[in-house]
Amino acid sequence: MTPAGAGHVHRSADAIGVFDSGVGGLSVLRALQAELPQEPFIYVADSGHSPYGERDDAHVIDRSNAITRFLIEQHHIKALVVACNTATAAAIKLLRQNFPELPIVGIEPALKPAALSSKTKVIGVLATRGTLNSEKFRALLESLHGQATFVLQPCDGLADAIEHADATKTIAACAYSTGAMGRFGREDGAMDTLVLGCTHYPFATDTLRSLVGADVAFLEGGAPVARQTRRLLAERGWLGQAANAGSVAPTIFGTTGDANNLRMAVQRWLGLSVDVQNFKIHSTFQAARSMP
Ligand code: DGL
Repeated sequence: MTPAGAGHVHRSADAIGVFDSGVGGLSVLRALQAELPQEPFIYVADSGHSPYGERDDAHVIDRSNAITRFLIEQHHIKALVVACNTATAAAIKLLRQNFPELPIVGIEPALKPAALSSKTKVIGVLATRGTLNSEKFRALLESLHGQATFVLQPCDGLADAIEHADATKTIAACAYSTGAMGRFGREDGAMDTLVLGCTHYPFATDTLRSLVGADVAFLEGGAPVARQTRRLLAERGWLGQAANAGSVAPTIFGTTGDANNLRMAVQRWLGLSVDVQNFKIHSTFQAARSMP
C-alpha cells in the first residue's frame, strides 16, 4: 500500500479527504470549512454504494478501504475525515492499520457532550442500525454507564430519504422514529437532548424540530471532528496556508453515484454552485475477483 506522504515533504498544500456514504458528510464538511477555511478538501460521496447503515460490515469496510486508497493514490491527501458514523464504527480501526502514515479522524454520536449538558439526563439517540449494533458504539455507551439514560432509535430509511431529497419519506421516517422513542421536553423523565448520530440527519433538523418541540437540544458531531483535524495537522506542521486573507480554499466534489444529486445537495446545504466529478472507485473485493 502506498504510504501517505511518500515523496511528499511539504504536505501543507495537499488536500484533506472527506468521505461519507452520500451527501450526509456535507454536514461535517460545513464544520471543517468553518474551522479550517484555508484548507483544500476533496469530498467523496459514495452514493453508488449507499446506504451504509443497513448493509453488513464487510461492505462498509470494503468501501472505506477502497475510497481511502483512491484518495491517497489519486489525490495525495494529507489527512482523512471519515464523515460517517457507520463507516467510523465499522472500519476506522482497520483503516488506521492499513494506512498507518495517514492521520485519520472519525465521527461518533455525541453521547459524551449530551451526558454533560442534559438536565433531565434522558437522551434520545438517532443513528443507523449499523452504528447502534457496532462494538464501538456499545463501548461508548458502556463508558457512560450511570451518567444518563440513553433511548436508542435506529432510523431505517431516513438517510436514504435525505440522500434522495425525498421530503415525504423524510417526514415519515422522522415521525415514526421520534414517535417510537417516548416523551421529549424539559420535564423530569423526558428527553431534553437528541443526538443526531448519523451525518445525514442534521439535514432533517427542521422536520425533527417540528416533531419534538423547541425545548429539545440537538447535538451533532461535526465541530469536534473539525477541531481534532486541526490538532492532528498542527502537530505535524501540515496546516494549510491561506492564499489570501478571508479566502476559502477550493473543494473538489466527487461521487460514485448521481452527480446531479450531489450538486443539488451542495447547493441546498452549503449554498455553493459547484462542478461534481464522477469517481470510479472499485471495491477491493471486486478488484481481487477480477485479478487473474
Ligand atoms: N451518513 C452515515 C452515518 O453517519 C450513514 C448513512 C447511511 O446509512 O448510508 O452513519
